[in-house]
Amino acid sequence: MAAAHPALHIVILAAGQGTRMRSRLPKVLQPLGGQPLLAHVLERARDCHPTQISIVVGHQAEQVQARFPDPDLRFVLQAEQRGTGHAVALALEQQPPDSQVLVLYGDVPLLAPLDIQRCLQSNAPLTLLTADIPDPTGYGRILLGPEGQVLAIVEEREADAATRQIQRINTGILTARAADLLRWLPQAEAKAQQEGHEWYLTDVVALAHAEGLRVEAVLSADANTALGVNHPLQLATQERLLQRQRATACLQQGLQLADPERFDLRGTLTFGQDCRMDVNCLCEGEVVLGHDVSIGPGCVLRNVRIGDHVVIAAYSVLESCEIGNGCHVGPYARLRPGTVLDEQARIGNFVEVKNSHLHNGAKVNHLSYIGDAEIGARSNVGAGTITCNYDGVNKHRTQIGEGAFIGSNTALVAPVSVGAGATIGAGSVITRTAPAHALTLTRAEQITRLDWQSPQLRSKAKS
Ligand code: UD1
Ligand code: MG
Repeated sequence: MAAAHPALHIVILAAGQGTRMRSRLPKVLQPLGGQPLLAHVLERARDCHPTQISIVVGHQAEQVQARFPDPDLRFVLQAEQRGTGHAVALALEQQPPDSQVLVLYGDVPLLAPLDIQRCLQSNAPLTLLTADIPDPTGYGRILLGPEGQVLAIVEEREADAATRQIQRINTGILTARAADLLRWLPQAEAKAQQEGHEWYLTDVVALAHAEGLRVEAVLSADANTALGVNHPLQLATQERLLQRQRATACLQQGLQLADPERFDLRGTLTFGQDCRMDVNCLCEGEVVLGHDVSIGPGCVLRNVRIGDHVVIAAYSVLESCEIGNGCHVGPYARLRPGTVLDEQARIGNFVEVKNSHLHNGAKVNHLSYIGDAEIGARSNVGAGTITCNYDGVNKHRTQIGEGAFIGSNTALVAPVSVGAGATIGAGSVITRTAPAHALTLTRAEQITRLDWQSPQLRSKAKS
């Protein structure tokens, strides 16, 4: 009978301040691809189906904990951040000693799931994930013996010039039995006290080796995925890596991206067939595209649902709205939350729409503000039309019936309604109901004075 797998306890270290980020936000809450660093680590932890996940928090612990309210998580408070060894020791207190422990660092967010699996599949008493990187500055270096066995991890602070040349680094990921870690960690603490540095988790490697136990070093298949985030440049580097991964996944699923290097997804993007996205678009939250959708360059889509055969032209910003089949939006349109466009509606350049519903085929093509409005099917709202929806205290609604024609530069002072098929003369200020199928306009009559002379002509006539 095969031996039963021991329980897997994943410990995520997230108590550090992240001084090198020079930010007031705790490091593990810094956003990567629109989510905190810690969320990425947690996703990888969950993929391993552990019995338990413990997160060690300390610096701004409440803020970190509040961001992850999931009831299955066990938070361990490390009030004073004495080092990674201390953090793991706290997490293992009063925990089953026979469980297998996997330590993940809250600031190593993009680990390849396969690398984690390879570590977990090792049957050595201690296994760590290592990587070869050209610039190993700041990382713990892996010291190998003559037969390639791992002797120790030397932290940058303790490394001499020769050791600093070593390009094989410790990624921070390590797995061992809880009982073994609980035996090694107090010894690592004693060493830290003697040598006057932080309590390093990484010192367990030399201690295991001293006991004659085998330490296995798994080498990451893609070193870039195993890099840590300690300062803004590293955060930006991992952001680009993640975005390249997301762009590749979208391309493989059939999205035609003009340039995978100029695409950012900070959420989820789903799309049908024949969707195209030009350069420098940003998708945030949940973005859904139907079939045959074309997104022009420089667009921002945040929590947007778009139907089939839609064009969103260059530099348009859409947030929390729904775009029906066959619509055309932009260039330079701004659709704010609560905008709903039914089929074939058109929004043109320099038009802002908020909390408004445009029915089938309605058009607002140029330079308008439409707020808190209902625009009937096939209505045409002329250039420069403004819904005056705010009286300084309350918001009011504007209703426009089917097939209405609103002349250019009309101010619709809400609450107000325009009947179906009505025409509003250009330049009107509409404050009362405009009846259906009639012409309504408010306009001073045009006059011409033929006897008028310009001041220049008048002064010439005098001299
Ligand atoms: C650490 C490793 C180093 C490795 C590198 C990989 C140690 C001693 N060094 O260095 O070998 O190459 O990661 O990225 O482990 N933390 C706590 N409590 C503490 C201190 C840290 O929870 O008392 C957490 C931090 O929040 C962070 C993680 O542990 O998420 C790593 O700490 P950090 O200070 O970033 O260590 P590095 O200098 O990156
Ligand atoms: Mg780090």
